[in-house]
Amino acid sequence: MKLEIVNHNGGLVSTPVPAVRNGTSASPRPLRGIAVVGLGYWGPNWIRNFYSLQCAHKLVACDLSAERLSHVKGLYPSVETSQNFDEVLRDPDIDGVVIATPVSTHYRLAKQCLQADKAVVVEKPMATSRAEAADLVRLARLRDRVLMAGHTFEYSAPVLKLRELIASGEIGEVLYISSVRANLGLFQQDVNVAWDLATHDISIILMLLGQMPESVSCQGQSHFRHEVEDVALITLHLPHNVIAFIHVSWLDPNKIRRTTIVGSRRMLVYDDTALQEKIRIYDRGVTVQPYYDNYGEFQYAYRYGDIHIPRIEEVEPIKRECEHFVDCIRHNLTPATDGLNGLRVVAVLEAAQTSLRNGGIKVPLSQTN
Ligand SMILES: NC(=O)c1ccc[n+]([C@@H]2O[C@H](COP(=O)([O-])OP(=O)(O)OC[C@H]3O[C@@H](n4cnc5c(N)ncnc54)[C@H](O)[C@@H]3O)[C@@H](O)[C@H]2O)c1
Repeated sequence: MKLEIVNHNGGLVSTPVPAVRNGTSASPRPLRGIAVVGLGYWGPNWIRNFYSLQCAHKLVACDLSAERLSHVKGLYPSVETSQNFDEVLRDPDIDGVVIATPVSTHYRLAKQCLQADKAVVVEKPMATSRAEAADLVRLARLRDRVLMAGHTFEYSAPVLKLRELIASGEIGEVLYISSVRANLGLFQQDVNVAWDLATHDISIILMLLGQMPESVSCQGQSHFRHEVEDVALITLHLPHNVIAFIHVSWLDPNKIRRTTIVGSRRMLVYDDTALQEKIRIYDRGVTVQPYYDNYGEFQYAYRYGDIHIPRIEEVEPIKRECEHFVDCIRHNLTPATDGLNGLRVVAVLEAAQTSLRNGGIKVPLSQTN
């Protein structure tokens, strides 16, 4: 069952073009209310965007911590607050819920939302295992509710631009991808650095290539907490000899957010820390010359062409996520980052975790574990 779900749609990752669910065009539903659960570091970004979009009559902020609730209330006085998640579930005026709590709670809280017939967007990663993620997908189908994975970068303008550049054939065949996401902290309590940071890179790479890896390997090390790795290197072995390396770290002096995509004709560098000019297209490459003497070195010609910087209209990705979630509820659409998309990313993470615990072996994605 697991492989079947992972390879649904021929292994293609869904695109951010909303599609009508169940093939029917339902009449728009007015949105009564949205709740955001978890107001730590990330949750307030959802509140800020829903607040400014004014897309629902009611906006509820829910957290176990009274302090976090009063902080949010201070910033957004018209937001209702609750310390009780069950209250949110019971509220008939809440159509959709954002789960922005620690990863270990995602499955339980998202499941309760779906059982209460709420649409739900679950922050990344959607769950802590493939079995949990598959169960959420199954439940969302059963209850005919929107299930969206909070894969923020799939809504970001530079990443959408990268996908456009690859799909247009401008860089030729993708040969390999190298991604680095490093900084000092924020150490998470319940997941290692792969589940925390590499989730972004995996979701970006699956979206760009539209393919699942055939196998995954991962090495890492924990320096502070037993079995909570703070540095990791994940390798995705993709079809047609494409390989992707993802280096993630909570233990780096610099903040690095850089993805290099090497194509057979051109190369792309995406630096998310750059204020402007996040993408550079390098007209550089290597061509193999016809053999003309005994020295292998001379069989290659290196091309050092121009660097082109495309113009990108940036919108805060989470704003697009908010709008998309609301649209999906209103118009009964399948989210661009639907439950299956969330499941695929979790499946890759789970394979990486299995590899990590087994000395970095290659773990096939078809393996049941
Ligand atoms: N998409 C992104 O770019 C991005 C960035 C950062 C974090 N995140 C994700 O957001 C989620 C939250 O991360 P964070 O760094 O904000 O965590 P955090 O620890 O700072 O905050 C979590 C909050 O959830 C609350 N909480 C826990 N259990 C709860 C419950 N049962 N009911 C109500 N509230 C509860 C806690 O009191 C806390 O305030 C994680 O899944 C993380 O992976 C996503």
